[in-house]
Order: sequence, then C-alpha cells, then structure tokens
Amino acid sequence: MAVTTAPKLRLGVNVDHVATLRNARGGRLPDPVRAARLAIEAGADGITAHLREDRRHIRDDDMARLRAEIARPLNFEMAATDEMVGIALAIRPHAVCLVPEKREERTTEGGLDVAGNREKIAHAIRLLKAANIRVSLFIAADPAQIEAAAAIGAPVIEIHTGAWCEHLADGERGAAAGEWDNIRKGAALAAQLGLEVHAGHGLDYATAEEIAAIPQIVELNIGHFLIGESVFVGLEAAVKAMRDAMDRGRARVLA
Ligand code: PXP
Repeated sequence: MAVTTAPKLRLGVNVDHVATLRNARGGRLPDPVRAARLAIEAGADGITAHLREDRRHIRDDDMARLRAEIARPLNFEMAATDEMVGIALAIRPHAVCLVPEKREERTTEGGLDVAGNREKIAHAIRLLKAANIRVSLFIAADPAQIEAAAAIGAPVIEIHTGAWCEHLADGERGAAAGEWDNIRKGAALAAQLGLEVHAGHGLDYATAEEIAAIPQIVELNIGHFLIGESVFVGLEAAVKAMRDAMDRGRARVLA
C-alpha cells in the first residue's frame, strides 16, 4: 500500500574520485573542493569524502579544505582507528561514517562487523559524539549488525547497497530480490530501534530512484557513478539528474 509522506531524502555527493583523477597525474587538478562547491550549487545537501589509510584519493589537506571551504555538512568517512579519530576530532566535520577498511580492496567491500567489534567501535563513537559529531556506521542490512549498532549507541546507520547493485548489474534477479528484501526489512528494523537510516554504495540513477521509495531512508551517499557520469554530461547535470531520480522515487514511497 502506498503512503503519501516521507521525510526529505538528502543527497550526499562523494567527491573521492575527483581526487583519484587528480592523483593519477599528480599536481592539483581536478580539485575535489571545486567539485564539492559545484555539487552543492547543483543541489547536493552535503559532501562526503573518505580519507583512507593509504591516502589513495582524498588527502588530509583535502579534508581540511572541504571542512573550511564548503557551505554544507561534511560527512567524513573513515576507519575506526586512533589516527582517524584524532584527525576527525581536529577537523570537526558535521558527521563521521565509520567504515571497514582493507588496504588491498578497491572500494569498501563489505559492512562493518559491529557485532564482532563492539568495544572498539563503541569507543570511537563515544569520542566523536563527545565532540558533537554525528556518527553513522556503514553496515550490511543484517539484523544482528543493526541491533548491535543500536546497542552501542550509534545514532545513524548507512546500509551498504553494493551487493544489491552488483546483483542487478549482473542480471542476477533472484539474488537482487533477496538483497532488496534485506534492505527494506533492515531499514524498517533500524527505524524501529530509533536509528536514522542512510544508504549508499554502487547507486546509479535507476537504483537511487528505486531505493528512494523506502520511507525510512533519509540520506543517500553517492560517488563513483556521479563522478563517472560527469565526464560525459558535467557534474552539475549529473547531480541534478540524480536529484530528479530521487524525487521521482520518493513520490511513490513504499509502505
Ligand atoms: N557510502 C560509503 C560508506 C562508502 O564507503 C562509499 C564509497 O566510498 C559510498 C557511500 C559511495 O559509493 P559509490 O562511490 O559506489 O557511490
């Protein structure tokens, strides 16, 4: 059954891969901070960037400049290490999203194992919350992880949509339907437990439109597809088209 209202769905634009392109050549161009400004002008509600341990794309000074130079909330993605917590406490972004990190992976491949690392993650949450930084945990839509996130005091989770998007891209309809079911049920469970629910990874126009219909989800964080698309149509047009896709999805919100 369709319902007619759901909270606004925010778009966080991840600018990591502008830095990837810059780093391929060295030097200063293209500048991820310029991309962040353009994305905001085009309708992004916030900017996301991931400072990885190996600094393969975003670097420390990018994060500091994003914090100082952009007029919308900055969402700092990072591993729950002492080094990264120290940097976040110095920069004081609006939000931190704790993600798992392996050096050998190409991108963030799975969700955080909150249930298996409660103490370590709870410690990082406490330090960040004390500095008034909103903390989210990037996790699979797995009830055990969602319950663990709520139990250790995380105010927000971000559901990893990567597996769903990959199954769709590979034409694996059965597996994609299973993941979709997990995401819907996971979002409902998280909201029931009082968590704010975000989602992201691997989203494009079609999948963002589809996921926008899940009413408990209030923020999508999208990077690789938008930066790739901007090579062809420009960043402003890509962000606007994404905003339109999300608005279309939100207009037929699922019960
Ligand atoms: N959310 C989180 C927590 C991520 O780690 C990433 C990738 O950095 C994204 C969203 C965005 O994923 P994508 O670049 O595939 O859109």
